Amino acid sequence: VISIRGKVRSRGADKINEKLPTGAIEIEVYELTILNSAETPPFSIADEHIHVSEDLRLAYRYLDMRRGVVTKHLQMRHKALLYVRRFFDERAFIEVETPILTKSTPEGARDYLVPSRTFPGSFFALPQSPQMYKQLCMIAGMDRYFQIARCFRDEDLRADRQPEFTQIDIEMSFIDPEDLMMMMEEMISGLFKEMIGLEVERPFMRMTHRDCLEFYGTDRPDLRFGMPLIRIDDIASKSDFSVLKEALDNGGSVKALCLKKGANLSRREIDALTDFVKNFNLPGLANIKVTEEGLSSSIVKFFDDQLQQELVSRLQAEAGDLILIGAGEKDCLNQALDHLRRHLADIYKLIPENTFKFLWVTEFPLFAVDKNTGGFGSEHHPFTSPHTEDMHLLEENPLKVRSFAYDMVLNGSEIGGGSIRNFNPEIQKKIFQILKLTDAEIEEKFGFFIKALDYGTPPHGGIAFGVDRIVMILTNTDSIRDVIAFPKTQKASDLMMQAPSSVAITQLDELGIRLKK
Ligand code: AMO
Repeated sequence: VISIRGKVRSRGADKINEKLPTGAIEIEVYELTILNSAETPPFSIADEHIHVSEDLRLAYRYLDMRRGVVTKHLQMRHKALLYVRRFFDERAFIEVETPILTKSTPEGARDYLVPSRTFPGSFFALPQSPQMYKQLCMIAGMDRYFQIARCFRDEDLRADRQPEFTQIDIEMSFIDPEDLMMMMEEMISGLFKEMIGLEVERPFMRMTHRDCLEFYGTDRPDLRFGMPLIRIDDIASKSDFSVLKEALDNGGSVKALCLKKGANLSRREIDALTDFVKNFNLPGLANIKVTEEGLSSSIVKFFDDQLQQELVSRLQAEAGDLILIGAGEKDCLNQALDHLRRHLADIYKLIPENTFKFLWVTEFPLFAVDKNTGGFGSEHHPFTSPHTEDMHLLEENPLKVRSFAYDMVLNGSEIGGGSIRNFNPEIQKKIFQILKLTDAEIEEKFGFFIKALDYGTPPHGGIAFGVDRIVMILTNTDSIRDVIAFPKTQKASDLMMQAPSSVAITQLDELGIRLKK
């Protein structure tokens, strides 16, 4: 770190170094003072693109940030949040900060707990989201709330998940889903316009949750490329192909997809795809090449001419294409084919650059079967309102009840999700009962909330967007850690601070905590 005194001169138009921000000037130095020296850094700072392990970069994040890439992302993040605050301020929303030391909110992940010194044996939970607080703001008559809110979830991490992340959290009273979705489209499309000059087509596309699963095997389909999953249960059942028929007999289904111009894939490439789906517990993948002379595969013999024609026309296949067929239990099949579809797009470069496909996913089911307990769990969270048309099914067939929940999906990433809420305490109680919470549990966990609902709660609803995911897309990065100043590793630790870390026995004593050996 040096300080210099001297004379700044223009280098002249022919000598400008475009690669440097200071490339147009030079300084004739009169006096130079060294203010501070530096250790040799553990990796090169001059280069934007370096090949060092992420762990080393995270351990020296302050040096990593000097390379400029992360700083550029943080500038974009800063500008994005300024835009968001302005957008909501102009529409009479008020930013309200809600507590970080709070009680567990059911967003489906494990809580981060904070022991209380003043109440030994009792714990605060860090908020998984400010869900109940924002609803309480509506009960308090605030009408239009927003917050750039920090959330904490102890869950398995992925490329787009951090244990602490930021939401643009929003809640409004007297709002219906349509008005809310329109306002959010305006906010998000304005954001993309302001940040990267993108003209977003509106209204956004919409797809029901059921259609998403049917045609893409996932509730967050990437619509930048085609290749939908096409169900061929009927064709399979009329064929003589026992593998497919067995899957149907076991209550499963059969789906196919058509890889355009895939008929020239080698045996090895096709085997690699079969191995790929095995990672997702799908035992196999049948393949049929479409040629000028007809279908070619070891399995075409199981399909008569008419079935072959039906298959080709349903998949809109042409000569030169490859049809891939999977069969199995529905969820497993969907999951494997969703991964396969994205994998194919990735390896065969099917995604056009600079394309942004926004989608609203609607009509989520209210409940889903919890694989651990076999009982019902909330698909979103328990404050989501059932669809008014399905209220009568709450008692007799809860799994059939659709909710007033909506997710915003962009390029296969869930960037936001929300719902219209239960503002009627009786319905809220009913939902807790269907979730098999006992009266004592309801009282213990949510008694304060149900009591609040009893004081004339206005109808209300809201949504929350993942800031980190949005900035990831705006900056075209593929890791959430690249858009966060000081992120955690995949194992949820901070390598620079070396956190989490052990604490002094005296601190534990104060909290009344003893560690198990
Ligand atoms: P939800 O749980 O869908 O809804 O979260 C909203 C959005 O937050 C982002 N997100 C995450 N981003 C990074 N790391 C994570 N671990 C992570 N988890 C979620 C996603 C997601 O769409 N209270 C409700 C909102 C509401 O109903 O209004 C909620 O939190 O982009």
